[in-house]
Amino acid sequence: MFRGKSGTSLRSQGTCAVILIGFMGAGKSSVGRALAETTGWTFEDLDERIERREGRTVPEIFRDSGEAAFRRAEHEALKEVLQGLRAGAERVVALGGGAFVQKRNAGLIEDREVPTVFLDAGADELWRRCRLQAEEQGIERPLLGSLEDFRELYEKRRPHYLKASVKQDTNGKTVEGIAAQIVQALRLDRRGGRQGEKQ
Ligand code: S3P
Repeated sequence: MFRGKSGTSLRSQGTCAVILIGFMGAGKSSVGRALAETTGWTFEDLDERIERREGRTVPEIFRDSGEAAFRRAEHEALKEVLQGLRAGAERVVALGGGAFVQKRNAGLIEDREVPTVFLDAGADELWRRCRLQAEEQGIERPLLGSLEDFRELYEKRRPHYLKASVKQDTNGKTVEGIAAQIVQALRLDRRGGRQGEKQ
């Protein structure tokens, strides 16, 4: 079972969330939705919260106000999500690819002792998925530049992602299969509690 730094279980502390991290194309939102479905928890996409708070899409924020403004909005949105966590309102939270890399965001998550799951895949596979999503679903990612830049950013960020509580390989796996492995790794049960603990 995952235990926070104080050594006691998260559920007994009333902190009831799982945070999914990883690079663009890792499947944080789709796996997050599947995990929420399995556990009965509510799914929360941090980028969607940012868009609601700002009244603009993520590409619009990047285009009109720049990345620094986006990072500020991202930090504020994350603070809001973490403040709202409580027993009885459990959440699966998917972060955008750059959120956990920001030291102050990782610090906030660590302070709340929320377990993080790193969804991993190789840079070329992630690039392939992002390109496909752009072509088939029109998903626009402001930081999806050239393959070379994409690989470089991936290498720079990977050591940060590796600090997650759980590392989950996604290559060749279905979203449901990945969600099931996360349930096992964190010992969540289908009602969102932790096995062996009273609901
Ligand atoms: C970003 C990833 C995006 C989004 C924003 C910045 C990044 O989310 O938050 O465009 O810095 O990697 P996804 O990881 O869901 O694509």
